[in-house]
Amino acid sequence: MNRSSNEIWINADNYDDWETSRPLLFRDDMRDTFFRWFRIKPNHKVLDGGCATGVLTRFIAKGLTTGAITGFDISPHFVKYGNKKIKDSGLAAKAKIVVEDGFNLSFADNTFDTVVNHAYLGVLSDNMAGLKEMIRVCKPGGNVSASVSARNFPKLKWEGDCSFLGKDRLNELIEKQEKAYRKITTVTVLKQDSHWKVMRFPKMFAVCGLKEITIHPYAAGFSYSDSYWSDEFKRFKIMSALGREIEILEKQRSNPKYAENGFSEQEFKELIDLYKLKQQYLINNIDNNDSWNWSASMHYIVSGTKS
Ligand SMILES: C[S@@+](CC[C@H](N)C(=O)[O-])C[C@H]1O[C@@H](n2cnc3c(N)ncnc32)[C@H](O)[C@@H]1O
Repeated sequence: MNRSSNEIWINADNYDDWETSRPLLFRDDMRDTFFRWFRIKPNHKVLDGGCATGVLTRFIAKGLTTGAITGFDISPHFVKYGNKKIKDSGLAAKAKIVVEDGFNLSFADNTFDTVVNHAYLGVLSDNMAGLKEMIRVCKPGGNVSASVSARNFPKLKWEGDCSFLGKDRLNELIEKQEKAYRKITTVTVLKQDSHWKVMRFPKMFAVCGLKEITIHPYAAGFSYSDSYWSDEFKRFKIMSALGREIEILEKQRSNPKYAENGFSEQEFKELIDLYKLKQQYLINNIDNNDSWNWSASMHYIVSGTKS
């Protein structure tokens, strides 16, 4: 079994990545639907694989009555931070996160009614080995699901009426930088399995023996003027999500491979400056309902039953 992806994740501590992006997927007004698609009942014993800081774990815990959820992750930083979030949210009686290696789980066979994950199986160097471990710990008749970000679909975007002056140039540079990133950061660099690409997961579920397989696509969208989101969350997203982009770009700009693949040092500088301008614009205009550029991305949930 190829476990090399563990090297990448074991010390991960990028908490804000998950806390700012995952609430867009797992919205409170979608909980009943997700319970149906993941096949979770409120009294179930649930396992959430590769849960990071546990945004999905907490989302599910809120819908459980007599049930309970355990999240696992290989990064002790995520587990510590995630358990604090669980405690602060008043969910400690029905949720916890533990350190586990998904290639070799310590849970006994047939322990959980439902096993789920979001964006976990896809980061593994051996997707099938990770899935088989999740199936092993699921009870016969129980269900295993994966929520998957479907990267092959283009993002739905509308640049809208946000009056931030640099927006067109910013979007141009983002696309150009992303193209260079995709050339440099291959699945081999990320130590991911290149055989089971994310769109093939339903087939992988069948190959691993799961029955009654279903696929449910869904989209996640965000706009800074969408009243679903609190001002507190919008501020957090402006500072953390855009701040994180800037932080990543600052690290990447010294890598000469970007210039070789069509994105220059000068463009990095311009892109970072434009992100900072946008951040300032959004903070200054948080109350005026002006920032109506928005985007949405596709995801899907695949589920199957263990015989
Ligand atoms: C892309 S993140 C997704 C996190 C989370 N499920 C979410 O969507 O917010 C992948 C997660 O899988 C975890 N992971 C990677 N390899 C693992 C392994 N062998 N065992 C357990 N967790 C692992 C990483 O630490 C990381 O938190």
